[in-house]
Amino acid sequence: MEISRFGVEEWMNTYEQEARYNTGETCVESLTLKELLNLTGEAEGLLEMIKTMKLDYGYIRGSDNFRQEVARLYQNMTPDNILATHGGSGGNFLALYTLVNPGDKIISLRPTYQQLYSIPESFQARVEILELKYEDNFLPDLNQLARLIDKDTRLICLNNPNNPTGAVMGKEILSEIVSLAAKYDCYILCDEVYRGLNHDPDSTIPSIVDLYDRGISVGSMSKVYSLAGIRLGWVAAAKEIIEECQRRRDYTIISCGKIDDFIGALALKNKDKLKERNFPKVLAQREILDDWIAKQPELEYVRPEAGSVAFIKYDLDISSREFCQRLMEEKGVLLVPGSCFAREGFFRLAFAGNRAELEQGLKEISSFIKNLK
Ligand SMILES: Cc1ncc(COP(=O)(O)O)c(C=O)c1O
Repeated sequence: MEISRFGVEEWMNTYEQEARYNTGETCVESLTLKELLNLTGEAEGLLEMIKTMKLDYGYIRGSDNFRQEVARLYQNMTPDNILATHGGSGGNFLALYTLVNPGDKIISLRPTYQQLYSIPESFQARVEILELKYEDNFLPDLNQLARLIDKDTRLICLNNPNNPTGAVMGKEILSEIVSLAAKYDCYILCDEVYRGLNHDPDSTIPSIVDLYDRGISVGSMSKVYSLAGIRLGWVAAAKEIIEECQRRRDYTIISCGKIDDFIGALALKNKDKLKERNFPKVLAQREILDDWIAKQPELEYVRPEAGSVAFIKYDLDISSREFCQRLMEEKGVLLVPGSCFAREGFFRLAFAGNRAELEQGLKEISSFIKNLK
């Protein structure tokens, strides 16, 4: 089956290892196992448990502990509504593999994580794109969405909070999308791998599964919990949908790694401590970015409301690909060109990684732009 090249992943694969200032990686700076164990306050005992763990296939759907902890991230979910997957990318794939048939009409918003439209396309669905506009703060035009949805629509794909824009669809917008979808009984898949990283600590970002019985939420340990290395995520949905996903998952992964599951459950059990580590960092580093943007006359952005990325608009006579490629070659700073998200005149900057790399990286970008002019 044909599939489009995955713009952002191919870009990252090409440049990530050689970047001196990695402002491309979207995780809140990843943890070592030692850091995670220390955070729990019972490092020795836990390490011993990992060392003596029998490495069989383990829990086929994900351990009770893991699925219980994931269920707690939602209002209306139980462990039976949760299926462990190989990262959020595995979750998206599984949900799409389960729901999309050739000829189905699928609506996806863009810019977004490319899986959400390129996988349905590869399954020979008819994909309609709703372009998110800078002028609308990258929030969807619901009138346009209403015009796109009809009786043939099988699925709407959302990403909330959004990568690459950091925009958040709050309860009001989500509820309106749910009403539109409910009219035609279509499913809504919402990639929520950045959910929980809302910058305003008093705000909450509702999950689609708590608003809609045909909603499917995909989550991940990679971004908010800084554990991309365990490759663990999940699908949360109504039990009937989970059963359909499980049927297909037997053919694709059987189970997730047992050590990964153990570490994932541990991290979620200690999520408040992780939050104490990650939140101040994300907020402080977003301030650094905000101050820097204010001093760059060629740059502007819609300030992200959640997550770890910003989609920055530039007023320079250069393609986004050339801008990012030359910046990488000349200064060692990794960004992702807007072209990887089908949007020229922008680049994506990830600001929640290593703080020193962010600070120096921003200086290098300023100097690069100065030389360009
Ligand atoms: C929106 C979104 N979804 C899914 C993923 C996949 O993440 P993972 O497979 O590490 O959970 C990413 C990674 O960048 C992402 O940004």
